[in-house]
Amino acid sequence: MIDDLLERALAAQANAYAPYSRFQVGACLRGSNGELYAGCNVENSAYPNGQCAEAGALSALVLAGERRIAEILVVGPDATLCTPCGSCRQRLSELAAAATPVHICGPSGVLLSTTLGELLPYPFGGAKQKL
Ligand code: THU
Repeated sequence: MIDDLLERALAAQANAYAPYSRFQVGACLRGSNGELYAGCNVENSAYPNGQCAEAGALSALVLAGERRIAEILVVGPDATLCTPCGSCRQRLSELAAAATPVHICGPSGVLLSTTLGELLPYPFGGAKQKL
């Protein structure tokens, strides 16, 4: 199961557009329907306009008509932990639960498995997401 998400995230990471940071990231979300949705980071010469891999994957999931995230995987370029940034933690919390698994990976596999609630306790919109 994790292997399927990692395979899709690695394929997305290979297409990441990151000429400024040279830090390519891939993400894959499993929807409640079992389908997988991948994304990569897309940077911009106006640096703040860059988009994280998680945001791209989230867009793909929503575009497909899905509304719930069952599992989250992020892969960075090396063995340092590529944990989602604060904004992406909040983005993901919109459609995921505190108990939703989050796998942080490097090219060779899982480095850390945690939950969204561990990464973002007390998210805004907490009435929808009980911790
Ligand atoms: N980045 C992601 O796409 N996801 C993360 O979880 C962390 C950081 C991107 C943003 C930027 O394009 C590059 O990695 C360096 O920060």
